[in-house]
Amino acid sequence: MIQAHKKAYLKTYGCQMNEHDSLRMRSVLERQGYALTDDISSADLVVLNTCSVREKPEHKVYSFLGTIRELKHQNPDVIIGVAGCVAQQEGRNLLKREKSVDMVFGPDNMFKLPDMIERVQRGQRVLETKWAERDERRVHDFIPEEELERNTVDGCKAYVAISKGCDNFCTFCVVPYTRGRDISRRPEGIMTEVRDVVGKGGREIMLLGQNVNSYRADEWDFYTLLDAVSRVEGLYRLRFKSPHPNDWNDKLSDLLTARASICNQLHLPYQAGSDRVLLEMRRNHTVDEYLAKIDYLRSINPGVGISTDIICGFPSETDAEFEGTLEVMRHVRFEHLYAFKYSERPNTLAARKIEDDVPEEVKSERLQRVLDLHRTISEEQIDAFVGQTVEVLIDSAHPQERGIMCGRTQGDRPVVVRDASLEIGDLVNVQVDARRKFSLEGVPEIEPS
Ligand code: 5AD
Ligand code: SF4
Repeated sequence: MIQAHKKAYLKTYGCQMNEHDSLRMRSVLERQGYALTDDISSADLVVLNTCSVREKPEHKVYSFLGTIRELKHQNPDVIIGVAGCVAQQEGRNLLKREKSVDMVFGPDNMFKLPDMIERVQRGQRVLETKWAERDERRVHDFIPEEELERNTVDGCKAYVAISKGCDNFCTFCVVPYTRGRDISRRPEGIMTEVRDVVGKGGREIMLLGQNVNSYRADEWDFYTLLDAVSRVEGLYRLRFKSPHPNDWNDKLSDLLTARASICNQLHLPYQAGSDRVLLEMRRNHTVDEYLAKIDYLRSINPGVGISTDIICGFPSETDAEFEGTLEVMRHVRFEHLYAFKYSERPNTLAARKIEDDVPEEVKSERLQRVLDLHRTISEEQIDAFVGQTVEVLIDSAHPQERGIMCGRTQGDRPVVVRDASLEIGDLVNVQVDARRKFSLEGVPEIEPS
């Protein structure tokens, strides 16, 4: 049943996979006659797409549920849904605990939204946390055929999910429990989606998966897929997130270096700079093995930007072991870095078997040292851009400053460009002549006539 002129408020926590899922839900809802609103008090439907990868985003969800209770009190007709990883993890407990919540559904069930809404309208409270069916080769077209074509592409960038879930069971990580086993989509669906996005003005695509480079479906592996997607005409830029160091190899480094449309950047999480801690984390590689892959890439491609994830204060990590984390930072000089204090996550091996024994102040102090070192490295890197020419994909107009357009480098660094004639989707070479706090500033290079 199509319901006209209803309003939906969709709030997203966490990672790019969640942003992707929210965009999918938005499209399902728009087809049901809902329009998105930023004003929660006028919404007929509220969906929280939650994240539980670390303690902090999960806390944010619970504190927002207080606002929701109040909202439901004022308007008992509003439908409240909790989606994503907290929903998958807490399931029935969440329904029991939060009487204002009408539906709780995991990431595998988001396309059932129309049916779930109808059930709530018939007076039911809905729980959908079953995993989707898939074949024994771990292949499953988890984006339904009717969802392959998008209504629109916002700006010039889009996410395309190629796989979901993870089989690595790193001891700190909740993802295998909230997103399930590692499952790849068939290449046909992915390629159809990529062509559709490009046909609708998409110029940059980010391929998404919890472990993108373990992709395997119908004789295709991640190399085959990256090669095929990067050749799609009209696509300027291809990114992917996140690869695992164990599934990264020199052949992939060769492809990234040779293919102009693959952004000259690699996000490769290393988590900790000590072999003993890496073993406890069950990462299945050593510091040297990680660095050998980075060093090879740098040797053939000195300009490549590398980014990473780090955990500070994993249980039993000593001061000396933590120094190893800083040592890796000094060696690689990451362009972007996402660092987190360790937090115990439900069901994980670390939560069950290892005592969270690094005091909170020590975790905070280590995190601060990581951030301070990164700031020093980053400042030097940003300064070095001044006087250089960088390629920028224009993605928006500056929200406050007239005549200024904004974009990003291949390494995902923000750039403000002083040229009002530029349009979203333009790819320009920019001469950097100044720096702002975290971004670069410049003018388009004048092409020789
Ligand atoms: N504690 C802290 N950080 C974590 N991450 C995942 N699980 C935890 C945890 N329990 C971080 C890792 C991962 C990123 C997405 O989140 O660095 O790469
Ligand atoms: Fe979590 Fe490890 Fe899988 Fe990444 S590779 S999603 S950190 S279990």
